[in-house]
Amino acid sequence: MGTESGRNTTGAGPRTGAASVRARPADVLVLGGGLIGLVTAWRAAQRGLRTEVVDPAPGGGAARVAAGMLAAVTELHHGEEALLRLNLRSAARYPAFVEELAEAGGRDVGHRTSGTLAVALDADDRAQLRELHALQLRHGLESEWLTGRECRRLEPMLAPSVRGGLRVDGDHQVDPRRLAAALVAACGRAGVAFVRSSAARLSVVRDRAVGAVLDDGTERRADRTVLATGSYSGALAGVPDALRPPVRPVKGQVVRLRVPPAHGPFLSRTVRAVVRGGAVYLVPRADGELVVGASSEELGWDTTVTAGGVYELLRDAHELVPGVTELPLAETGAGLRPATPDNAPLLGPSGLPGLHLATGHHRNGVLLTPVTGDAMGELLATGELPAYARPFSADRFGAGGSDAGGSAGGAPGDDPRRTTRQEAL
Ligand code: GLY
Repeated sequence: MGTESGRNTTGAGPRTGAASVRARPADVLVLGGGLIGLVTAWRAAQRGLRTEVVDPAPGGGAARVAAGMLAAVTELHHGEEALLRLNLRSAARYPAFVEELAEAGGRDVGHRTSGTLAVALDADDRAQLRELHALQLRHGLESEWLTGRECRRLEPMLAPSVRGGLRVDGDHQVDPRRLAAALVAACGRAGVAFVRSSAARLSVVRDRAVGAVLDDGTERRADRTVLATGSYSGALAGVPDALRPPVRPVKGQVVRLRVPPAHGPFLSRTVRAVVRGGAVYLVPRADGELVVGASSEELGWDTTVTAGGVYELLRDAHELVPGVTELPLAETGAGLRPATPDNAPLLGPSGLPGLHLATGHHRNGVLLTPVTGDAMGELLATGELPAYARPFSADRFGAGGSDAGGSAGGAPGDDPRRTTRQEAL
């Protein structure tokens, strides 16, 4: 284990059973280097705070698996109005965010504004989609009903059985792998130090979080510690039980196909549907990658890619766009969404002085990256969570949220304290 900031690497700490404390505490210690931890660290460093990120592989985790849909409108659900407001705020932030990040991180992040088409394959799907459309319109969202023929005119690869759909030009996409790589680079340039290890235990002194003990027994100290370890956020030792964030893992399996350059246009926008009750989406990237997702499985921290999972995704995608089965299969993967009881994130103070939360983004981790960075940067710099983020404080679950899911998924692998995989698909 060492620390890295830009190209600088310091030596490893001693490997002893007792925690050895580093001399100079950081201002901010971020546990978890997925998209949410990275954007938090980047924004903190931009505010002049000495910031460290603890993660064995920054930029890995769920960002390696996620399709990157920015689907505030097509993933709207009844009863999630507060989340909708946050999602829309973050979606509106995306253009400026990716421009700033591309500059700061020195690379393109694959932001595409080509829109989304949500289609129905049978009468039941169509009725469900009509319901969604009515809900969208009640919230003043832009969404246009199309007949099956109009859908196929937009996307000629769609199956003849498509019965209608919703055209949502405002639901865009970004490439989460590129986004994560840009955030790692931007953090490095802003002076964030990377500690390539996992947090084993929160350090608490006189009822205040003061940092974390790492897997190798060393301790990092900081004035403010941010828990951003995605689906592992409810499992960190040392967090008082009553304050454990109620976060559980929800597995998503994903398949990556490749549209050969010689093939010509395949899909021009994200296409999605509900087939046999399960959501399936196809997200076409500018570089020819086609991401097909995703299962939704409550199996604890298991990330096995199963034959059945891949079969079902390809079967449903084939029903939607028959040509997919002719494409080369590039990759399969599984990631873990960090779900909360109300599907919304946990942002801000944890109830334990010195410990803040940036976790629980469930299906919206990529979408909520910009607004999470804004809110956490403000909180860490000023001590005040902005008003738009306050509905997402941990206190909405009461003092003890752990019964709602903090330990519901069982132990992650053989060590429930590990914090090695991050956030939402
Ligand atoms: N937001 C897409 C997913 O979670 O699968």
